[in-house]
Amino acid sequence: MSDGDVAIDSAKDDNNDATSGGVNTGRRYFLIQATSAVAAVGAVGAAWPFVKYWTPSAKARAAGAPVKIDFSKLAPGEMLSPIVAWRGKPIFVVSRDKTSIDALKSDTSDLADPDSLNPEQQPEFAVNAWRSAKPEIGVYLGICTHLGCSPKHVVTDNFEASGQGGFFCPCHGSKFDLAGRVVKGVPAPDNLEVPPYRFVSDTVIVIGEEGNA
Ligand code: FES
Repeated sequence: MSDGDVAIDSAKDDNNDATSGGVNTGRRYFLIQATSAVAAVGAVGAAWPFVKYWTPSAKARAAGAPVKIDFSKLAPGEMLSPIVAWRGKPIFVVSRDKTSIDALKSDTSDLADPDSLNPEQQPEFAVNAWRSAKPEIGVYLGICTHLGCSPKHVVTDNFEASGQGGFFCPCHGSKFDLAGRVVKGVPAPDNLEVPPYRFVSDTVIVIGEEGNA
């Protein structure tokens, strides 16, 4: 056999066996791949209870879902009943006549925050005299900003200045006007909160989705 034949045979051995330090590298590669695959499956299996835990249930998703409110039967001066809840909180929907709307703009001297300067209490679209997307319809969370009682809608001259009624909290006597603005000198520190909402027609709103009328 010539020197050339020896060199060719040696190269063949290297290619066919693909060995390194006595270990078959092809086999080693296969074992690494198989081990990695098993480890990945194990990791997914171990994580599954946590993934399941983190995934909100259908009930939880529904609890935070937007709520549609049809107020087509609401007459001026009334508050919608029965009261609809959104995220477990009562939503007050009130209809205001022209006299009430005008009073909201003029009788503000007895109010603590007549211009809605606290940005936590309403979306941008509700920073106006009636704190709503449309003057005729007010939409507020029915939760007193003092300690969380639910105020009552009053239609009498509960508020001496305006005589237009509003909301009265029986727990500690806080008063809010028909735009949910808190009266000075009562325990409640802030105006009633305005939830995010949008009109989908003249008489239907969706609470939980923000947008202008
Ligand atoms: S909870 Fe309304 S006044 Fe205290």
